[in-house]
Amino acid sequence: MIREEGVRVRIPASTANLGPGFDTMGMALSLYAWMEMKASDQTTFHLHGDQMNGVPVDKSNLIYEVAQLVFREAGVHVPEIEVAMYSDIPLTRGLGSSASAIVGGLAAANALIGFPLPQSKLFDMATAIEKHPDNVGASLYGGIITAVWDGSRAECLKIIPDENLEVIVVIPDFQLSTSKAREVLPASLSMGDAIFNISRSTLLATALAQGRLDLIRTAMKDRLHQPYRASLVPGMAEILEHAPEHGALGAALSGAGPTVLALADRREGRSGELTRYLLETMERSGIQAAALQLLPDLEGVQLISQMQSLSFLDMIKGDVTI
Ligand code: HSE
Repeated sequence: MIREEGVRVRIPASTANLGPGFDTMGMALSLYAWMEMKASDQTTFHLHGDQMNGVPVDKSNLIYEVAQLVFREAGVHVPEIEVAMYSDIPLTRGLGSSASAIVGGLAAANALIGFPLPQSKLFDMATAIEKHPDNVGASLYGGIITAVWDGSRAECLKIIPDENLEVIVVIPDFQLSTSKAREVLPASLSMGDAIFNISRSTLLATALAQGRLDLIRTAMKDRLHQPYRASLVPGMAEILEHAPEHGALGAALSGAGPTVLALADRREGRSGELTRYLLETMERSGIQAAALQLLPDLEGVQLISQMQSLSFLDMIKGDVTI
């Protein structure tokens, strides 16, 4: 029942909220982490890449904990595991690094013992850990998701994004924890602001589902969290207002930040101009940042099936066929 040779998975990064869809919308991105998991005599972690600095390498690692949740839920005893992980997803920048670790740990553990749990159960478990379904839903299912969490069950619908949609992220060189970015939010909103956000988020989900890229600029506006978080991310407010003049369909804080993302239409060929604008705006605000031109990831977490002949790191370096 336990796969002796172990399993490998690839997990996409994600962006949450997309502006108005606070704690409900997410999108998987073509930026990845890879994980290998095997049953072992002793728990060990091999963490590779700059993004893994400072992550614990003992049983306090979140991946060990989530793997044990799967084994317990399935009634299978796998007390010791060997885990290798490499990630290109920057930590604590609003690109779903912790969600990728949770989803990767759950999916790898479930695959290791023969897939006893359905994906919907993994989604419930991931959301219970993360407390919001937006990043974990995107990393698990891929594409764009709209999701609801009632405290025990998570529901999710997936939207396949328009094939011309591209995503430019500008990642500041400082970390911002989700808890700090939530502390600045007000305890209540006016009815006017609530209506503002409900109408934009429903329009955004429908526009994305119908490929109505022309509506994204209007639909990505938000009054629930971004105005309160603006002081935490210098340059953000200006980008949200002016990015459309430089080729963006719309722009938003990525999750709880500090990364800012802009959506663009590939057919317009303005991603270079837009990227320069995003970096220059951050720099003018005193923030060093790096930009990545990404696409939506459509698949979510994937089991990598044909690579046991390659070492974990060679698999990542090489052309991975999934
Ligand atoms: N939606 C969350 C927030 C972040 O903006 O605080 C991701 O779960």
